[in-house]
Amino acid sequence: MSAGYKAVTWNRFKKRYDLLLALGVAGFLVVFSAVTLATNGAANPVQVLIRAFGLAAILLLHFILAIGPLARLDPRFLPLLYNRRHLGVTMFLLALIHGGLSVFWYHAFGSTNPFVSVFLSDWGEGPGAFPFQAFGFLALLILFVMAATSHDFWLANLTAPVWKTLHMSVYLAYALLVVHVAFGVLQSETNPLYLALLAAGFAAVAALHLLAGFREVAADRPTAAAPEADGFVKVARVSDIEPDRAIPVTLGGERVAVVRYGGKISAISGVCQHQNGPLAEGKFVHGCLTCPWHGYQYKPDTGASPPPFTETVPTFDVRVVGGDIYVHPEPNPAGTRVEPACCEN
Ligand code: HEM
Ligand code: FES
Repeated sequence: MSAGYKAVTWNRFKKRYDLLLALGVAGFLVVFSAVTLATNGAANPVQVLIRAFGLAAILLLHFILAIGPLARLDPRFLPLLYNRRHLGVTMFLLALIHGGLSVFWYHAFGSTNPFVSVFLSDWGEGPGAFPFQAFGFLALLILFVMAATSHDFWLANLTAPVWKTLHMSVYLAYALLVVHVAFGVLQSETNPLYLALLAAGFAAVAALHLLAGFREVAADRPTAAAPEADGFVKVARVSDIEPDRAIPVTLGGERVAVVRYGGKISAISGVCQHQNGPLAEGKFVHGCLTCPWHGYQYKPDTGASPPPFTETVPTFDVRVVGGDIYVHPEPNPAGTRVEPACCEN
């Protein structure tokens, strides 16, 4: 959570994760370059580096795009979400080196401005004739904006919905890159395996997103029970919720987390203020419902983060009758205290 914009804390797990990332990337670059140079005596070292950095970036991008849906489908992938930003910035730096080397190697020595030349090249004939570099350039611009705004400072200043929308443009960058890479590969490869791998990567990313999307739609189905005369809706039995846990329900189109803790029941919005994480999948830790994505915390009775943090989410009126939990679908303003209902067991 954030007081100002200082958010998710640095810890040993994250450092180990970053070290693993750096070693993985460096290992890939060294092994790819060494194998290419050893097996193709005529290969130019700069062009080998251009390919190595481009491939490392696109592989990392596929991994990054898979993390979101994987974490939705199986909570065991959640730890990968914590460091997704570091993966994104690393991917951008790899792509920047690839793009920079390409501009330098293919465009810097002519009479045309190198950046104009990127857009004027590759209009000839043959299977690889397509202005694919312009697609890579536009994608790199999008990735730059995303990397530059990746810090929580920008998340706090742009507000979560604007930041999230901005970062959704990764899918536009990905579409541009699929075209760029498909035609980029054709420049030097006649082996169809490379294009088949790209198609398989695209299919895997699309399938994971569809699967996770279907799961979300199913989870968002409104709670079936009809409202009582005073508007309260029966959402579950107390025994349906494990102690110190929450369950998700959907009321009036809103995701709600119904929390059971210390013999009490409360209901707050199920959407985390940080990046819309699924609060109902979090645990009750140190007096707060804790978001499973990056650890923002909210008190179940007020929907407010503990001081010094300032985030608040809407709360819902709740009551328990004979072991049945009833929630009023009308949200209270974010941060409004609601007396928890006793669940006596
Ligand atoms: C200024 C932006 C860019 C320029 C000028 C550029 C230029 C190029 C060129 C000239 C090639 C063909 C290399 C060859 O003949 O082997 C290529 C291929 C490729 N590019 Fe880019 N690129 C840019 C951005 C990007 C970005 C942002 C990514 C990924 C995140 C990317 C990933 C790739 C990949 C994976 C290949 C295929 C490598 C291979 O042949 O194995 N490029 N690019
Ligand atoms: S803590 Fe990041 S989405 Fe909840």
